[in-house]
Amino acid sequence: MMRVPFVDLKAQYLSIKDEVLPAIEQVLSSTAFVLGKSVSDFEQAFAAAHGVRYFTCVSSGTAGNHLALWTLGVKAGDEVILPSNTFIATAWGATLCGATPVFVDVEPDSYNIDPARLEAAITPRTKAVVAVHLYGQPADMDALREITDRHGIALVEDCAQSHFAEYKGKRTGGLGITSSFSFYPGKNLGAYGEGGGAATNDPEIARKYRMIRDHGSEKKYYHEIYGHNYRMEGIQGAVLGVKMRHIEAWTESRRRNAARYNELLKNVPGICTPKEMPYAKHVYHLYVVRAERRDELQKHLESKGIATGLHYPVPLHRQQAFAHLGCKPSDFPVTERLAGEILSLPMYPELTAEQIRYVCDSISEFCR
Ligand SMILES: Cc1ncc(COP(=O)(O)O)c(C=O)c1O
Repeated sequence: MMRVPFVDLKAQYLSIKDEVLPAIEQVLSSTAFVLGKSVSDFEQAFAAAHGVRYFTCVSSGTAGNHLALWTLGVKAGDEVILPSNTFIATAWGATLCGATPVFVDVEPDSYNIDPARLEAAITPRTKAVVAVHLYGQPADMDALREITDRHGIALVEDCAQSHFAEYKGKRTGGLGITSSFSFYPGKNLGAYGEGGGAATNDPEIARKYRMIRDHGSEKKYYHEIYGHNYRMEGIQGAVLGVKMRHIEAWTESRRRNAARYNELLKNVPGICTPKEMPYAKHVYHLYVVRAERRDELQKHLESKGIATGLHYPVPLHRQQAFAHLGCKPSDFPVTERLAGEILSLPMYPELTAEQIRYVCDSISEFCR
């Protein structure tokens, strides 16, 4: 029986081992363990590649979510709108500022926050909208911006899953006033530990990013504003710097793998493949299908040695942590339906055509 893991970080490590070990050694021998040249070099390269003026590395994507809202002055009593179908860290960005998350349902085809439902969620307390580019596909930023501009509220991006994805030919990360990225190991661009970042084109916000990540300080022991310790480790900067040389090729491999899946699954009854929206270049952090009898299919694939995932089995409006918000599941019909149908298939650049064929044959066998 062929085994197909959900991700294969070892295969990628082996392919860059000869570049990554000397880069790590360089950090160790220079003892630049926290921030330092490896991190600032990577910040510059990542900003340039994303067409943003400033990119600031931090210790996780969650820290980036927090900074992206903190630097806008989001505070207790404010509301922050975000999609009901996302990883919970998007909401922590709001709660860490003391604000209340307000969930909005997603579109049935892109699975991203639905601009048609946004306006009804805006109140005089709304300070920002966080668009998540879920699974690697950009949200419809122009449609969202038309609404946020009209109401004078900030549009922020959560790019944890969308490194190098494009919206109308522009990379995500520079489309909102602030944005955040995650470099968690399994992300499209992953560190060898925790990592994240925040981007902006605004020099004053960028200055705040840098100060807040380092105790509210520009000069050691002089603290101008409230801060945190959100610094990135030097080793992570070195690993990410090496991976920058490969990320575009890896992104193309993900897209090729998605096209193979689409082709082999297109006529399988009961399976709905992901739709790439006309404005989007999807980078397939996750390849998510919808399936009738999803739970049985997942078990069948497991018995065939194929690992799959659910992103996400419990939507935010139904999480215990947000029970006090009193959300009604009937307000989120699309997210509710997705939670019972979505299935994430194995996806990583090193996935082979044979593995994809095996996964698709195993799905067809179950569905026919
Ligand atoms: C959409 C989204 N936002 C935020 C995060 C948080 O990133 P991290 O795990 O690096 O804190 C993640 C990933 O975990 C994510 O998928």
